[in-house]
Amino acid sequence: MPPEEPPAVVPRGSGVALDLKGVGKSFGDKRVLGGVDLQVRPGDFLVVVGKSGCGKSTLLRLLVGLDRPTEGEIAIGPGRDGGKANARIVFQEPRLLPWASVLDNVAVGLPASLSSEAAWKAAETVLADVHLQGRADDWPSVLSGGQRQRVALARALVSHPDLLVLDEPLGALDALTRITMQSLIERVWHAQGFTAVLVTHDVAEAVALGDRVVVIDEGRIVLDLAIDLPRPRERGSAALAALEGKLLDAIFGVAEVVY
Ligand SMILES: Nc1ncnc2c1ncn2[C@@H]1O[C@H](COP(=O)(O)OP(=O)(O)OP(=O)(O)O)[C@@H](O)[C@H]1O
Ligand SMILES: [Mg+2]
Repeated sequence: MPPEEPPAVVPRGSGVALDLKGVGKSFGDKRVLGGVDLQVRPGDFLVVVGKSGCGKSTLLRLLVGLDRPTEGEIAIGPGRDGGKANARIVFQEPRLLPWASVLDNVAVGLPASLSSEAAWKAAETVLADVHLQGRADDWPSVLSGGQRQRVALARALVSHPDLLVLDEPLGALDALTRITMQSLIERVWHAQGFTAVLVTHDVAEAVALGDRVVVIDEGRIVLDLAIDLPRPRERGSAALAALEGKLLDAIFGVAEVVY
């Protein structure tokens, strides 16, 4: 048989369903997640909020398969063509390779089977999607924090994931850059159609982006809030402010707020 030709393009992803039943995670005798039941529809944008240490990153690690639950079951998918879902994660810090150009940092996210011409083309296309056209040959060290995080986003997006998980990706950025990046994430999510799960500490970000926001407290979901408002959402509107208030009450508990 002739050798298989490398694919000429990155196949398109599709949003996948997430189904978590009774999911828990313990480290030794320390149970950091427990009884998590969560169903997410393909292509939905789920946001997860909660106090530091409540288990958000642990949940994300389980979703992308970096760790395994000690209780319950997680079903994800099916991915494109009925196969395994392609899940990618973006962390708070960009984690770029300092010795590789911007383009090579993005191409790292591609399957090795892709022809090199297709890989360059895919990386250039996604760099344009994150408004970094013309920066392909730069080193990470000459980029701003927001630009580096856009390279990290491009690296996650270049393989057209079915599931994109973002762990406080904008936490280290200034407020104005954050708003620009939120719009960018919303735009690529809308264009690519993947299922998104975003962890954030910022309740304004949560209500601006989520179809649904879940609040975790001590490893359990304590609020599951649907946000059925048209996009793009008007920041600072009364409707969003009311939803932010609900989230803050669930995170801190009304009695805990001291004036
Ligand atoms: N590998 C590990 N071994 C032991 N304990 C762990 C491990 N990973 C996480 N934990 C513990 O699990 C708990 C939840 O951690 P996790 O990182 O999920 O919190 P988080 O909600 O993401 O917090 P933050 O908002 O500060 O990022 C913490 O108490 C943490 O110490
Ligand atoms: Mg975390």
